Amino acid sequence: MKIFRSIKKQQQYSFKEKCKGRVIGFVPTMGFLHKGHLSLIDKAKELSNRVIVSIFVNPLQFAPNEDYREYPRDEKRDLKLLEEKGVDTVLIPELNEMYPNGFETYVEVSKLSKDYCGRSRPLFFRGVATIVLKLFNTVQPDLAVFGEKDYQQYIIIKRMSRDLNLPIFVIPSPIVREEDGLAMSSRNLYLTPSERKEAPVLYESMRRVKELASKGERNVKNLKKEMVKFIESKKYPRIDYIEFVDPENLKRAKILQGPTRILLAVWIGKARLIDNMEV
Ligand code: PAJ
Repeated sequence: MKIFRSIKKQQQYSFKEKCKGRVIGFVPTMGFLHKGHLSLIDKAKELSNRVIVSIFVNPLQFAPNEDYREYPRDEKRDLKLLEEKGVDTVLIPELNEMYPNGFETYVEVSKLSKDYCGRSRPLFFRGVATIVLKLFNTVQPDLAVFGEKDYQQYIIIKRMSRDLNLPIFVIPSPIVREEDGLAMSSRNLYLTPSERKEAPVLYESMRRVKELASKGERNVKNLKKEMVKFIESKKYPRIDYIEFVDPENLKRAKILQGPTRILLAVWIGKARLIDNMEV
């Protein structure tokens, strides 16, 4: 497994591989890998001949009051997992090379970034879109895999690729969960044992809505009310948002007709957990 810490070296490698006709699949991550990340690698492996994974905790997508410094990091463990998975190349760019002095160019996917997670994290998606485009330009992949766990992020990257004519397929991969339904996330680490016990409430609340919908309840207001009641009956959770949206353009739905996705963000202790489900 090759490890590149230099952008130029990665570009040269990708260029050579492409000249040989190889299809490059890319999985960008912030490291501290878990089975959710590894499932994206499996998907990339299915669809390409060379799999490149990046590890970079991107300061641009953290607000000053957020957890950039505490964000968990374990490069040695990550590299071991990636080697075992049979990844071809790992890109671990240096902070100074990614963001040199005088850096001032940003990518904004305007409307899609405003709502939902963008409401409580106003510069978050600008940071994500900017780093993902920079990583795309470094890796030059034919396809890139994103987890549906961060559903709004996936839709934003898909829109950016379309709007900027990037020659890259943006491919979704399903959410990987713990046995009790909690979506895997590096930030689950922040939960205390008693908070962790309550954390599956996000998943359970969406499962309940799915059941009510299958019994005929179509009114989003009523379904949302049920979710709020259920989540608020627990000790720790504080709801940031719960929305029912069109899965393609993220517009709010009032009635369940056609495909609809529930998006939610809930604080449990100092962890802000997000999850989503199709209903
Ligand atoms: P990170 O949180 O490390 O996630 C990297 C990728 O793994 C994302 O596509 C995310 O959706 C996916 N992922 C995380 N948990 C998952 C789970 N439980 N099931 C399925 N997929 C999961 O998302 C980021 O990093 C960053 O914003 C990044 C795109 C790398 C830009 O900095």
